[in-house]
This record gives sequence, structure tokens and C-alpha cells, in this order.
Amino acid sequence: MAGVPGEDTGRAGILTSARPIGLSAPWIDGREEELVLETLRSGQLSLGPMVDRFEAALSERVEAPYVAAVSSGTAGLHLCMRIVGIEPGDEVVTTPFSFVASSNCVVYEGATPIFADIDPGTLNLDPAAVEAAITPRTKAILPVHIFGYPAELAELQVLADRNGLAIVEDACEALGSEYRGRPVGSSGHPTVFAFYPNKQMTTGEGGAVAVATEEEWALLKSLSNQGRSDSGEWLTHARLGYNYRLDDLSAALGLAQLERYDEILAARSEVAARYGELLGGVDGVEVPLADDQDHRRSWFVYVVKLAAGSDRDGIIARLAADGVAAKPYLPSIHLQPYYRERFGYGPGMLPVAEDASARTLALPFHSRLDAEDQERVVEALSRALA
Ligand SMILES: Cc1ncc(COP(=O)(O)O)c(C=O)c1O
Repeated sequence: MAGVPGEDTGRAGILTSARPIGLSAPWIDGREEELVLETLRSGQLSLGPMVDRFEAALSERVEAPYVAAVSSGTAGLHLCMRIVGIEPGDEVVTTPFSFVASSNCVVYEGATPIFADIDPGTLNLDPAAVEAAITPRTKAILPVHIFGYPAELAELQVLADRNGLAIVEDACEALGSEYRGRPVGSSGHPTVFAFYPNKQMTTGEGGAVAVATEEEWALLKSLSNQGRSDSGEWLTHARLGYNYRLDDLSAALGLAQLERYDEILAARSEVAARYGELLGGVDGVEVPLADDQDHRRSWFVYVVKLAAGSDRDGIIARLAADGVAAKPYLPSIHLQPYYRERFGYGPGMLPVAEDASARTLALPFHSRLDAEDQERVVEALSRALA
């Protein structure tokens, strides 16, 4: 954790008076206040027009015919398991190098997440490893566009077609990313976005699912609204549903953020580019993979890789003493206590993901991080590494 100004760091009596630099921060401006206030004053706080407007704007942004807003990325992923028909006993091949929700959604439906290893450069699913993990029980592939870097959709599509599998994309970190010149979310697969405040844009809590057909959209709307029937009868429940609705205040916030999204992404790209320059001269730190023709990332976090054998915990503690927040990012899901216990996963099974999990470090990163703070982060990191 970043220190509080003047807080005793507990390190041999050293006091840091440095202003803390946090890991992330939303960028909320006048337009957000305006739309949220308009919604408050309208009295329509749920199931109102802001949700419709947010869905329409997002659908345009990601070039998907339909978008259903939901209460979180996790809720969206869960509903996707329902719409592609995942059932108890099924297997879903997915990545261990992700936030836990991308495989928890499989477990919610009584199915088993089968982890395939990742590519050391992109940190996304390695298609060859996915192919090796497919069994007769496999029903779907669930790639995650980790840290906003697009996953290898073309190769995964070949595998899905060959084996009759669905693809559900976890784009919770990737709104605005492009794969082969098209926005992530436009592929036709159910694709999930998330808007927790550390994301590129936020709705407070919230998420959304992009889909290709009206039927899928209607099913998502029903499932997220207690399984209500299409007839619109308030107390008729046609299927087992949930309360995964996004409220209108959150949608208003999201709509304002979407209106400013190009500006937000441009600011984040600038911050990332500046880190790239500043870190160029720092030994023992590998910067994130550059974009290429096929992969254009929307910057979610700035995660570096430390040299093998680095004392990451010590580095994080030294950064904290200088008022700079940093986090190991991300731990491998198969090594989480619940997954080890429930599925018997253990160390050594997925060496590339495990190596990445041991060496990656998220530095402070958000749309408004200024050059001075970035210089402070890099200076503190250089000292912490020495
Ligand atoms: C890759 C990934 N999947 C799923 C989620 C879950 O989203 P939420 O926190 O909105 O439920 C997140 C975000 O936290 C994420 O980063």
C-alpha cells in the first residue's frame, strides 16, 4: 500500500513525507456530473432511459449489433456461460493469467475451468496450449484480453470451428482495443466489458455484454432481470434469472465517460509512452510488449516484468516507503487456494503463467498521471532495484 503523508514506514525510523502516488484513479469531469445529476432529478433510477442510451453508445463504440448492460463484469461473464449453454460436467478452456472472475464464472455453472498456458510476450492464451487442452468435454474457449492486449482470436476461432466450441471473450480490461483493425467486441462472440473504477472508464460498479443477435440480447436482458419473460409481465419469470441490472445513475456515468472515451484513451497512451521512455534506461525491468499490426491495445494498467529472481516483495516495500504504490499483477488463478483445493491444481502445471505471475509488477497508472509523478515513480523504482 502507498504510504500516507507523514506516516511512519516502520523502516528503521524513516519517515516518508512524499505525497502518495496511487495505483489507479478514475477521471471524472463535468459531463459525468451533468448526466448523473440529470438522472437523479429525473427520478428514474433504474430500468430507465439512461441504460438504453448507454447500451446504444457502447454498441456503436465496439461495433457490435447489441449490448446489454449488467451490474459487473463478473455478472456479464456468468450470463455468458448461460447463453452459450455451459452445464455441469462441461469444460471451458481458459487462461490462468487473469483476474479470478474469468474462471469463477465457469465454476458458477458447475463446469470445470481447464487452464492452458500463455504466451510469455502477450501474456494471453497460447493457441497451441489451448489445442492441447481440448477434450471431448470441452464446450467453450474463454480468452481474456489481458491488460487490454488483444488475444489471438483468429487462431482460437480455427480451434473453435474445428471442435464445435463457443468462444466467450473476457474484454473486461480491453474496451477500445483493436484486433486486426476491428474493435474488440465486434467479433460476434459474446464479449464482456467491465467498469470498476480502476478500468479505462467507469460506471462505479458495472459491466456490459456485446452480442451479435437480438435473441442473445433479449436473453441477457431477461437473465439479468430475474428471468422475467419477454411479455413484459413484471411478476412472470420464464427462467432462472438474477438481479444483474445496471442502474441508471451508473449508466449515466458510463455514458459521459464514453462520450469522452477517445480523450481518455489518448491520455492513457501518452502516460504509457512516457513510462516507456523513462524506463528505457532502467536495468532489470522489461516494459510491456509493443502493439503491432494485428494488436492495438487500450491501456488498462502499466505492468512491467522484473528480472528472474528479483526480490519483488522487497521492491514493493521500498516503493511504498517512497510513497509509490505497486502490486504483483496478476497471481495465477490455478494457484489460488480455492482452485488448488477444489481442482487439485498446483505449482509447475503452467510454467509460463507462473513465471509471469512471479515477476510482473503493476506501477501507478491512470489517465491523469503527470510527468512529474511518473518521474518520481521511475526514480523510486531505480532506487528500489539497486
Ligand atoms: C480480466 C477480468 N475479468 C473479469 C473482471 C471482473 O469484472 P468486475 O470487477 O466488474 O466484476 C475483471 C475486473 O475486475 C477483469 O480484470
